[in-house]
Amino acid sequence: MTAATATTAETFRPALHYAARNTWLNDPNGLIFHDGVYHLYYQNNPLDNVWGNMSWGHATSPDLLTWTEHPVAITCDDEEDIFSGSIVFDRDNTSGFGTDSAPPLVAIYTSAFKPGSAHHGVQAQSLAYSLDGGYTWTKHAANPVLNRGSAEFRDPKVLRYDGGAGSYWVMVAVEATDFQVVLYKSKDLKDWELLSTFGPANATGGVWECPDLFPLPVDGDPNDLQWVLTVNLNPGGPNSGSAGQYFVGDFDGTTFSSATTVTDGLQDPDRLGEYLWLDWGRDYYAAVSFSEAPDNRRLMIGWMNNWQYANEIPTSPWRSTMSMVREVSLQSMDGSWRLVQQVAGDPAPLAEQTPSFTLAAVEISDGHHVLDGAAGSVQRIELALTPGTAEECGLIVRGDGAQGTRIGIRPADDRIVVDRRESGQTDFHGSFASVDTAPIRTTDGTYELTVYVDRCSVEVFAQGGQVTLTELIFPAATSTAVSLYAVGGTATINNLSVTQYA
Ligand code: FRU
Repeated sequence: MTAATATTAETFRPALHYAARNTWLNDPNGLIFHDGVYHLYYQNNPLDNVWGNMSWGHATSPDLLTWTEHPVAITCDDEEDIFSGSIVFDRDNTSGFGTDSAPPLVAIYTSAFKPGSAHHGVQAQSLAYSLDGGYTWTKHAANPVLNRGSAEFRDPKVLRYDGGAGSYWVMVAVEATDFQVVLYKSKDLKDWELLSTFGPANATGGVWECPDLFPLPVDGDPNDLQWVLTVNLNPGGPNSGSAGQYFVGDFDGTTFSSATTVTDGLQDPDRLGEYLWLDWGRDYYAAVSFSEAPDNRRLMIGWMNNWQYANEIPTSPWRSTMSMVREVSLQSMDGSWRLVQQVAGDPAPLAEQTPSFTLAAVEISDGHHVLDGAAGSVQRIELALTPGTAEECGLIVRGDGAQGTRIGIRPADDRIVVDRRESGQTDFHGSFASVDTAPIRTTDGTYELTVYVDRCSVEVFAQGGQVTLTELIFPAATSTAVSLYAVGGTATINNLSVTQYA
C-alpha cells in the first residue's frame, strides 16, 4: 500500500460502522447472536476490493458498534461462489451435524455454480456447519440440498416457525427475476418442501433479493403480532437504484398474506411513493435481521452502498461498509403499520463527552450559519426544528463554507431531503450526486432529526425513526463544519445537541 492510499483509507474509514480491513464487502449474511457474541458474516472478495470470488467474510462484536475481523468463514472454490444466506442455531441437532450435547450452527447459503461444476449456471441452496461457535465451517457433503434448476434462486433466510401449524424450519428465498419470494419448510434443514409463493407485488422495478420474514408486536403489545416480510430490490428504489421494501401481514405457517399490498402484479411506477420502504436513502441495501437476538429484539443491518456505483466508490484498500445496526419495531399508523428504526448499539462509551455541543432555541434567518464548536466527522446530531417562513431548512454537515451535505425539511411538500451534490467527491460515477427525498409527517409543525455522521456517510432517523435516509458521502478530511440553514425565510431551531465520537 502506498502512503497516498493509506491516507485515503483512513480519511473515509468509519468509526461506528463495520468495514473490512482491506477487501470488498456487500450483503450482510448469517447474522446471529451466539454465546454472547454478535456474528456478522458478509459477502466478501477475500482477494480484492471489487465484487468477485464471493465468499463469506466474518466479524464479531460484543456491543454492535465495535467489530473484530476474523478469517474468511466459507470460501468459494472452483465449483461455486458462496452467495448470500443465513445461519440458524440448530439447538435440537435436527440436522445431525452436531450432537445433542453440542448442537451445531448451520449456514444456509446460495451456491452460485461455476463452469467447474456439473450444476453450472444454476443457483441452489446449500449447507455448511460449525461446531466451534461460528469460527470454522465445513460444507455439507450432499450439497446442494434445494435445487429447482433455476439460475436466479437465491438468498435463503431461515427462521424457526413455532405456531398453530406446528414447529419446523421455514426458508424464505427469491426467484429474483420473477419478483417472487418462495417459502419452504423442513424438519432437518436438508429436505425442503414448497409451502407457497408471494409476489409480484408493490415495487418490482428490479430483481428481488435478500428477503426476510419475522413477527413483531404492534406498539409493543405481545398479544398483537403482525408478520413483516422484507424484500430488497435492485434497481427500482424510491430515489433510484438499490433499496429495500417491506410488507406487513399474517403468516399462518404456510402462506404470507400482505395487508399492505398497493399494486398486485407488476409495478405501477407512479405509485412508488405509496410502498413501504426500509430506508429512502440511496445506500441501504440487502438488509436482513439477526437470528437469536437477545430479549426478542429485531436487529437489522443493511449494506451501505448501491449497485449503481458500488464498485467505484473512492475508498482504498477496503471498499464498502455496513450500516449501523438498527432495532426495528412496528407502530400502528392510520389503520396500517410502519416500521420504526433506532440505532441498536449504545455509542455513549465512545463519546469524549456527552453531549459535546448544545444550542438553545434560536431563530435563524435566510442563509447558512456555522456552529462554532460543533465541527466533527464522527458525530451524532440531534435536532428539533419548526420551519417558519423558510421553504427549506435544516443542517449542513461535513461542511466547508456553504458546501457540504444538506439534510433539511421542505414543509410545503411534507418532504425531508438529503442533498449530496456538494458533499465532496461525487464525480466517480454519474449517478452519485443527487437530491434524495422522502415523505415526512408532523402533527404539531415540529420535526425531529437524529443524524449519525461517520466519515463517509450520513444516516438520518427522522420523527423518532419513522423515516430513515442513509447516504454515502466522500468529503475532504478538512470539511468538518456543522451549520444550520434556511432558504427563503426563517426557521426556529428548538434544540440541538452534538455528541462527538472521535
Ligand atoms: C444482493 C446480491 C444477492 C447475492 C449476492 C451476491 O446484493 O446480488 O442476491 O446473493 O448479492 O454477492
